[in-house]
Amino acid sequence: MAIILECTNEVLASTAKGLKSGALLGMPTETVYGLAGDAENADAIARIYKVKERPQNHPVIVHIGSLDHIDLWAREIPEYAHLLARDFWPGPMTLVLQRTALAKDFITGGQETVAIRIPAHPIALKLLNSFHAFGGKGLAAPSANRFGAVSPTSAQAVEAELGQYLDESRDVILEGGSSLVGLESTIIDCTGNHPRILRPGAITAEMVRNATGLKVEDFTFKEINKSADGRSDDSRSDNKDEEIRVPGSLENHYSPKAEVRVNCDAKKGDGFIALVHVQTPEGAIRLASPKDLDEYARILYQTFRAADAQKISRIVVIAPEGDGLALAIRERVTRAAR
Ligand code: TXA
Ligand code: MG
Repeated sequence: MAIILECTNEVLASTAKGLKSGALLGMPTETVYGLAGDAENADAIARIYKVKERPQNHPVIVHIGSLDHIDLWAREIPEYAHLLARDFWPGPMTLVLQRTALAKDFITGGQETVAIRIPAHPIALKLLNSFHAFGGKGLAAPSANRFGAVSPTSAQAVEAELGQYLDESRDVILEGGSSLVGLESTIIDCTGNHPRILRPGAITAEMVRNATGLKVEDFTFKEINKSADGRSDDSRSDNKDEEIRVPGSLENHYSPKAEVRVNCDAKKGDGFIALVHVQTPEGAIRLASPKDLDEYARILYQTFRAADAQKISRIVVIAPEGDGLALAIRERVTRAAR
C-alpha cells in the first residue's frame, strides 16, 4: 500500500528527494493522476511498468516544470511547437518531439521521439520544481491505472487502483483534489511540417489551428471511425511503429469493469450517462447528468468508477456530438466500449 499525503512543504521536499532515489509517486495533475518516477532512472521506470502491468514498448510522457528544461529532452523543436507551448503550457497538452540522448529507449519505447508535458496542477508544478532542485530533470508519468483501465481522477482512485502494488516504505500518493479536466492531455505530434493530433483532449484542433496558423491533421478522428470489430480503414494502423505512436491502439483503453455501450437503448438496471437535457429511459439508473462538455469530461471517469463500485454490469452512454471536447469524450467512451 501507499499512503495518501497532504502536500505540505515538508512532504513536498521529502517526496522530491524520494523520487530522485527511485521512489514512485501518485501525482495529481489537472488531466488525470499520473504514476510518476525519475525519467532518468531505468529501475524506477521499470517499476512503473510493473505496477501498471504495461507492455514494455509503450512510451511514457516526460513531465517538466518549466520550458527552460525542454531542451534537455527534445531537439530541433519547430517554431509551431514553441507557439503551442507558449499558449497552452502549463496545461493539458503533450508535445511529441525529436528526442535528445537523455530520453532513453525505456522512456520512448525505442522511438526517436519523446512526449513532453508541463502540467498545470499547482502541486505537480511545485513538485517538479522541487525535484529539479534535487537535480532531477523530468518525471515520467503515465496515468496511474492498471493497463487498459480507467485513468484515476482522485488520490483515492489511485490508491484503489494501484495502492496494493506500491511500496509503502517509500512510494506516496499526493492529495490534489479531483482533476479539473478529467480526460488525459491532447497529444500533438510536432515532428512533421504541421501539427498532428494523436489523442484528442481539452486542447482542441481549433485551438491548435488558431495558435499556429497551420493546417492541423486530426489523426484521432479516423481512429474513432474504426468499424465495430476494431479494424480500421486506415492502412497506417497495420504499421507496427504506428501502433506504438498512437495511444490506445493496442487494446481496449479506459474501460471500467462494466460493459459500456454508446448511444443505444438502455434496459432496466443499466447505468445511464448523458447530458442533463437527455431524459433517463425507464428503469435505467441515472449515474450522471453533466450540464456541459467541461463537466462531462470532468465526471466521466469518476462515474465509470462509481458504477463499478455499485456493481452495475452495463453502462449506456449518450455521447455528446460535435468537435473539440465532445470529440475527446466520444473517443474515450468509444474505446471503453470496444
Ligand atoms: O494527461 C496525461 O497525459 C496523463 C497525465 C498523467 O499527464 N498521462 C497519460 O499518460 O495519459 P499515458 O502513459 O497513460 O498516456 C500517454 C500516451 C501513451 O498512450 C503513449 O502511446 C503516448 O502517450 N506517447 C508517449 N510517448 C509518445 C511518443 N514518443 N510518440 C507518440 N505517442 C507517445
Ligand atoms: Mg493511460
